[in-house]
Amino acid sequence: MTISTVVSSRLVVVLFPILILATDQTIAQQYICGYDKGNYTNNSTYEANLNHLLSTLPSQNGNGYGFYNLSYGSASDQVYVIGLCKGDVSSDICRSCLNDSTHVLKKGCPYQMEAILWYDKCTLRYSNRSLMGVMETSPKIYMWNTENVSSNIADEYFKNLGTLFADLKSQAASGGPRRKFATGNVTVPSGYKTIYQLVQCTPDLSEIDCNNCLDSAFGNILGCCHRTKGFHILIPSCTFRYEDYLFYNSTPDEPPIASTPPPSLTNNTTITQGTF
Ligand SMILES: *[C@@H]1O[C@H](CO)[C@@H](O)[C@H](O)[C@H]1NC(C)=O
Ligand SMILES: *[C@@H]1O[C@H](CO)[C@@H](O)[C@H](O)[C@H]1NC(C)=O
Ligand SMILES: *[C@@H]1O[C@H](CO)[C@@H](O)[C@H](O)[C@H]1NC(C)=O
Ligand SMILES: *[C@@H]1O[C@H](CO)[C@@H](O)[C@H](O)[C@H]1NC(C)=O
Ligand SMILES: *[C@@H]1O[C@H](CO)[C@@H](O)[C@H](O)[C@H]1NC(C)=O
Ligand SMILES: *[C@@H]1O[C@H](CO)[C@@H](O)[C@H](O)[C@H]1NC(C)=O
Ligand SMILES: *[C@@H]1O[C@H](CO)[C@@H](O)[C@H](O)[C@H]1NC(C)=O
Ligand SMILES: *[C@@H]1O[C@H](CO)[C@@H](O)[C@H](O)[C@H]1NC(C)=O
Ligand SMILES: *[C@@H]1O[C@H](CO)[C@@H](O)[C@H](O)[C@H]1NC(C)=O
Ligand SMILES: *[C@@H]1O[C@H](CO)[C@@H](O)[C@H](O)[C@H]1NC(C)=O
Repeated sequence: MTISTVVSSRLVVVLFPILILATDQTIAQQYICGYDKGNYTNNSTYEANLNHLLSTLPSQNGNGYGFYNLSYGSASDQVYVIGLCKGDVSSDICRSCLNDSTHVLKKGCPYQMEAILWYDKCTLRYSNRSLMGVMETSPKIYMWNTENVSSNIADEYFKNLGTLFADLKSQAASGGPRRKFATGNVTVPSGYKTIYQLVQCTPDLSEIDCNNCLDSAFGNILGCCHRTKGFHILIPSCTFRYEDYLFYNSTPDEPPIASTPPPSLTNNTTITQGTF
């Protein structure tokens, strides 16, 4: 059984059983509560520890590359939080995105010990189990542009898309323990259409796990989006997106990108699959 919900004129959300997806079109976020991962009660120590972590996270410095890894409490009340910003986001926007996430996620999943939230610019997860160094490819959310690449250039387009992906994947995976992020573009056929791509893993993954996570992400294209102009997938451990327009900040080392936020969701459709 699947339930389709139209949440806006250009966004369709399909819910598979078990997992619950909530969307809020005004702030373009998606979160998933781990209903089968344990619930805490009002005023419990777990809740107090979680509140403590969520309220202190925005004032922390992270690892300097938009990655936050915090833990608080002991034994069965220990809470683990991971925050990761997209690699092209300035530290101010990163912090503000994570701050918003803490409020939205706590409110959206009021009693769940485990939950995850994706914004366009950041991801926030928490759980009663350690999340560090663990490659997770579920749950996932993906979106795509419903327009296809025109058939006369499709073969060349996707051949180049695959080559660029392999290159960016290898760059990101070998990025070291602080940052695993890469963007790039290729124009096909020469001088005609430019494909832009972004890949990112949480930096705590090993090189092999980052490779595997991104391969898994890329593999989802075949299931839904064989010839589409754009595709964006969000997985706990990695992200992959391509479009035929520039959607990332191409000068990440320059000061803030406060203006010009890219379109928050790729055109049209969102599908979620899997559960925690
Ligand atoms: C999807 O987006 C395209 C272009 O933005 C638009 O023409 C089309 O009507 C949209 N389809 C749906 C189902 O919203
Ligand atoms: C997390 O909480 C769930 C539900 O209470 C429990 O089954 C699980 O063992 C806990 N995990 C850890 C690592 O404590
Ligand atoms: C947690 O709470 C939700 C509703 O808030 C409920 O559907 C779910 O069964 C609960 N999970 C556990 C493991 O008790
Ligand atoms: C928890 O407490 C809040 C107010 O403090 C209340 O609104 C809510 O219903 C309580 N939830 C449960 C499950 O007791
Ligand atoms: C939780 O604490 C609040 C205030 O500290 C209190 O009003 C509420 O009744 C408590 N809820 C439970 C379920 O103990
Ligand atoms: C994550 O946090 C734990 C506990 O503070 C720390 O031991 C570990 O080194 C951190 N790992 C990374 C990759 O930041
Ligand atoms: C975090 O968000 C809250 C509520 O949205 C806001 O009041 C607070 O100023 C924000 N803090 C930071 C550090 O951005
Ligand atoms: C795009 O291509 C797929 C598969 O090749 C096809 O099923 C779909 O109808 C096409 N979409 C459009 C809008 O032409
Ligand atoms: C596109 O790629 C070229 C080299 O591959 C690079 O110099 C250029 O900055 C890239 N443009 C963007 C917008 O990323
Ligand atoms: C939707 O797709 C069209 C054409 O592919 C593009 O021009 C437009 O910017 C996209 N809109 C969003 C919100 O991604």
